[in-house]
Amino acid sequence: MPDVPWWNSAVIYEIYPRSFQDTNADGVGDLRGIIARLPYLVELGVDAIWICPIFPSPMADFGYDVANYIGIDPLFGTLPDFDVLLAEAHRSGLKVLLDLVPNHTSDRHPWFVQSRSSRDNAKRDWYLWRDGGADGAEPNNWLSQFGGSAWEFDPHTAQYYYHAFLKQQPDLNWRNPQVRHAIYDAMRFWLQRGVDGFRVDVLWHLIKDDQFRDNPVNPGFAVGGPPHEALLPLYTTDRPEMAEVLAQMRDVVDQFGERLLIGEIYLPVERLVAYYGRDLRGVHLPFNFSLLGAPWHAGTIGKLIQEYEAALPKGGWPNWVLGNHDRPRIAGRVGRKQARIAAMLLLTLRGTPTIYFGDEIGMTQVPIPPDRVRDPFQKNLPGIKMGRDGSRTPMQWDDSRYAGFSEAEPWLPLADDFRQYNVAKQRSDPTSIYQLYRQLIALRRSRSALLRGSYRPIHADGDLLLFFREQGPERLLVALNFGTGAAVAKFPDELVGTLLLSSHLDRQGEDVRGTIKLRSEEGVVIEVAGKTPMR
Ligand code: GLC
Ligand code: CA
Repeated sequence: MPDVPWWNSAVIYEIYPRSFQDTNADGVGDLRGIIARLPYLVELGVDAIWICPIFPSPMADFGYDVANYIGIDPLFGTLPDFDVLLAEAHRSGLKVLLDLVPNHTSDRHPWFVQSRSSRDNAKRDWYLWRDGGADGAEPNNWLSQFGGSAWEFDPHTAQYYYHAFLKQQPDLNWRNPQVRHAIYDAMRFWLQRGVDGFRVDVLWHLIKDDQFRDNPVNPGFAVGGPPHEALLPLYTTDRPEMAEVLAQMRDVVDQFGERLLIGEIYLPVERLVAYYGRDLRGVHLPFNFSLLGAPWHAGTIGKLIQEYEAALPKGGWPNWVLGNHDRPRIAGRVGRKQARIAAMLLLTLRGTPTIYFGDEIGMTQVPIPPDRVRDPFQKNLPGIKMGRDGSRTPMQWDDSRYAGFSEAEPWLPLADDFRQYNVAKQRSDPTSIYQLYRQLIALRRSRSALLRGSYRPIHADGDLLLFFREQGPERLLVALNFGTGAAVAKFPDELVGTLLLSSHLDRQGEDVRGTIKLRSEEGVVIEVAGKTPMR
């Protein structure tokens, strides 16, 4: 396909490496494990993998506290292992995206060790150091996302440093050109090795207010929510100077041909789209998380799709995400049956979909006993029912003792029902959610209406969401039943077509004329013949 970059038509698969496949019986996944499972990813049909951080790290935030941007943590393997992974992935037709964590380092990173060593160290200004107030209190009211003040007092030099997350994750000073160039160099290191792009961690956080003004109180703060939401992050995130940083990062990757930049950005859609950049010179895909927390109703979902479509800048390519390592799993949130509707939605919407590992076998949110909690966010805020471990449990490959993930006790508990829900079992069940994912991905690949066609909403109300995907003469109708009762969508009789795929995997090839009947929690994709009649 001329002029269409690879990531337009790609399906991306997120791997949380600690939980994908262990090969040395330490209970933690590793790079050799990913290599061993590449054939599975090919069988599933995805095009690219994004691997969460694998760099040397004290693991205070499981790799999101980087102590060296250009190495591999021994827990995961070695640089040569990584090179094998990259070569094997490419040989299998898979792209590889790494997780770039530019906002903060580990407090053990040599840059921070130097920075904190004295007030006049050459790296002092690489981080955000401030004096306390007159009474020695924190420099301002900024709060950490992981609880408490975002300022940590460092007695050695009697100043505070800023950390948006854990105190073991000091924020870099992105106003300092040396910091920028150090991170751009790290990007080049991996791009030269052949990686196909990056998912950029907390991109909207990089620049903070240069006057360090207090954040305003959030009038809409919900008691019981994460405590940092008591303030509006006006001066700590999404600052105007981000535009320049985006363009610079983009320049770095563009020097290597068709590489991909994805931004992790939790912002309302009208601000999110700014990260496509001026003249689309920002990230290619600002992650669209609007489905992650959306109430699961046809009307709500239909509305958010339209709002997102309408907000996209001209030429900006859409993308959709159903789950990630920070949020509750979709099958836990909406149930295993509705997770099939969610899969059909994710893979038939316009734009690049990202699948979170394990969602393709319907893994649910796993309850974690208190003595097995590992997530530092939950440990800091035990009252908050938002721990992230439950969506990070090991991949369920088979029904052996540790689910084929490891020969030893895994770092997080396995789901109780892994013997029922695992890859081996679902592979041999022609109606499993795994087979549904495979068929959806295959259908997507074979239909230009799904890959590049327009999105035309038809109906989003009650239990039903209906939309067309159209490209030239090819017209597909997607009908999703969000309810547990049977549902009927009526079109004029001239609507004739063929059912290409049902989420129940049993009606392929059925003729459709006028009326579309859906069973409880069923979704279908229909190929419509001739012109598309409208009611
Ligand atoms: C991102 C990551 C999350 C991490 C945080 C701090 O949100 O996805 O896992 O804790 O950044 O790096
Ligand atoms: Ca291991």
